Amino acid sequence: MPIGKATAVALPNIALIKYWGNRDQALRIPANSSLSMNMAGLTTTTTVAFDDALKSDVVVLGGVERSGPARDRVAKMLDRVRALAGLAARARVESRSNFPAGAGLASSASGFAALAVASSAAAGLHLDEAALSRLARTGSGSACRSVPGGYVEWQAGTDDASSFAFSIAPPEHWDLRDVIALVDVTHKSVGSTQGHALADTSPLHAGRVASIPGRLARVRAAVLERDFAALAPVVEDDALAMHAVMMTSHPPLIYWQPATIAIIHAVRAWRAEGVSVCFTIDAGANVHCLCEASASDEVTRRLRSIAGVQDVRIVSPGGPARLIDDHLF
Ligand code: PMV
Repeated sequence: MPIGKATAVALPNIALIKYWGNRDQALRIPANSSLSMNMAGLTTTTTVAFDDALKSDVVVLGGVERSGPARDRVAKMLDRVRALAGLAARARVESRSNFPAGAGLASSASGFAALAVASSAAAGLHLDEAALSRLARTGSGSACRSVPGGYVEWQAGTDDASSFAFSIAPPEHWDLRDVIALVDVTHKSVGSTQGHALADTSPLHAGRVASIPGRLARVRAAVLERDFAALAPVVEDDALAMHAVMMTSHPPLIYWQPATIAIIHAVRAWRAEGVSVCFTIDAGANVHCLCEASASDEVTRRLRSIAGVQDVRIVSPGGPARLIDDHLF
């Protein structure tokens, strides 16, 4: 018999200061603090129902029932929730995103944020935002940043209790756009969980981590002051530094495609011409072009003319993960 059911919606987020590498791999305590913006319009909706009659957790992602690692990762978060709630029942989980998974659009961030909010509510827990962020973090690090709304900082912390994200400004604080150039929508070959574990093998990792406090302070101030000229170079520096760590890991992780590099050069040239735009890239080939709302049509038009750009999606700053009334099943 179903004993508790809830549905949550969460958005992915795009990091302006990146999270790469963990000091505790199992708990996903990151090597550095990071800062991001939630992405309105891209959504993951997840329903969780605990049911006494189930023998094991059932996980359906994008209409397909999963087994193996994808299922186990979800079941692990359910185990945490069961332990917190003193519950033994297994759950049925159904989740859908309105964008491709595993292609650098942070589907794991929205997925685990939605799962944390839905599963804890279905289990009858009333967790505050920091506790939900910590729970989401254990599923996918960046998911902790999809729990609060708008512009969000994840303080690295040193342990489970101190590593969570909080909002530094609501979505309406600054009308930035993320104009996403999709150059590859296939599932990436090396996921970020494996990638984080390789960060330490790069001789550049320690240098990047040491540079984060200064960069984070500059990005935080630029967001709070809505200063695009101050924001742009630091966002690009940090994305390039993260990819330098990735590329110099053993084995190396090279996520870029030729079109990725073409866009990097183009964006730098456009900014030199006076267009308020900068780029950042996650663990994939797609390029997120951040710009002020007034520049987004121009940036979209220019991106579409670059060979290898398959599609362009425009997103604005979005709100927090939240419970909704409509269930998926
Ligand atoms: O949360 P994960 O394990 O999917 O890691 C995300 C890592 C990056 O997207 C590359 C950077 C970030 O901060 O979002």
